[in-house]
Amino acid sequence: MTRDDARALDAADPLRRYRDLFDLPEGVIYLDGNSLGPLPRASTAAVADMVARQWGDGLIRSWNDADWIDAPARIGGKIAPLIGAEPDEVIVADSTSANLFKAIVAALRFNPTRKTVLSETGNFPTDLHVAEGAVECVPGARLAAVPRGRIEEAIGPDTALVLLTHVHYKTAERFDMARLTTRAHDAGALVLWDLSHSAGAVTIDLNHAGADLAVGCGYKYLNGGPGAPAFLYVAKRLQDRLTNPLSGWMGHAAPFDFEDGYRPATGMKRWLAGTPPMLGMAALEAGVDLLADVDMAAVEAKSRALFDLFAAEGDALGLDCVSPRDPARRGSHISFRHPHAYELCQALIACGVIGDFRAPDVLRLGLTPLYLGFEDCWRAARILEDVLTTEAWRDPAFAERNAVT
Ligand SMILES: Cc1ncc(COP(=O)(O)O)c(C=O)c1O
Repeated sequence: MTRDDARALDAADPLRRYRDLFDLPEGVIYLDGNSLGPLPRASTAAVADMVARQWGDGLIRSWNDADWIDAPARIGGKIAPLIGAEPDEVIVADSTSANLFKAIVAALRFNPTRKTVLSETGNFPTDLHVAEGAVECVPGARLAAVPRGRIEEAIGPDTALVLLTHVHYKTAERFDMARLTTRAHDAGALVLWDLSHSAGAVTIDLNHAGADLAVGCGYKYLNGGPGAPAFLYVAKRLQDRLTNPLSGWMGHAAPFDFEDGYRPATGMKRWLAGTPPMLGMAALEAGVDLLADVDMAAVEAKSRALFDLFAAEGDALGLDCVSPRDPARRGSHISFRHPHAYELCQALIACGVIGDFRAPDVLRLGLTPLYLGFEDCWRAARILEDVLTTEAWRDPAFAERNAVT
């Protein structure tokens, strides 16, 4: 593809207008929106309003006057259409890790005759780590992790919960949600989907798949800001049958009755534990509002085209692409395996192309259609070519490991 070809594709891009809704720094090509979404322009004003007016002037009155108290359910309701859920099936709370814990323990307690949580080796570490901790909280429970290709055959009569990440954080491989969910249900197990790398990136239909539980991050494709609160989905049919092991006062049926005993709220509110973090909620809501009128089919179509552009450039450079070529089997990032992926990533960042590195050897580039153009990707590929051919990545400064990669 030539630069002119890329420009022509940008000129015909139906998503073009969204780019101006983001405050992107000059001179940067941002290929890491799958890790931390950039700043939506509206978030600056929303957070300023939250701080100065709602907190500064409104003080504690804002829990009622600015409807802070309903923010978890309200924002959850706005995320729902992005994941194929009803508005009253999603709530915003805590982190993805904390929501995983709540959902895993709840699923194990739901069916006490089954003891196994089944997951994938190489799943995102927090999913496995939290599952490890969660099974220790339920007598007799255990975690079994098997390679991706063996998950279906490993689902059995002792499986209480199948815990899977829909789009793999490293390779971008995507599970067939409907198929795996049916397979788990046929064996009598529940399924918990981690949508961190899918929500806002690919079309998702939890209800159509018959999914039971799902969690996901607010700070990736939802552009909710660093450490944004996460979301949790519980299918309506299970909402009053599962209980939250983090039985905090905000999940109580009547928090302001200040009772000694715990009585869970009905619906999704029982999945709250403590007080919602309103500064983070304000940024997350602005990020989610930006997606309200986005055509996800157009997003997926453009993501495919950006992937094809990058995959062709990677092939020409002799790079080893570890992401599936079939768009139905992947999410919205492209990953290349390279023995010096870390140094390569740092050298790219020094040239204004921000991607990330995932140990031990993966260079990961997020393809986020709302603010990334074809010409951006074309330019990023030229810079990648330059860094590889000049071996600029060999500068020892690029080998120094940062705390966050
Ligand atoms: C699949 C997946 N799950 C969970 C998380 C992180 O969860 P938390 O926000 O609790 O750190 C990530 C972060 O990158 C992720 O990729």
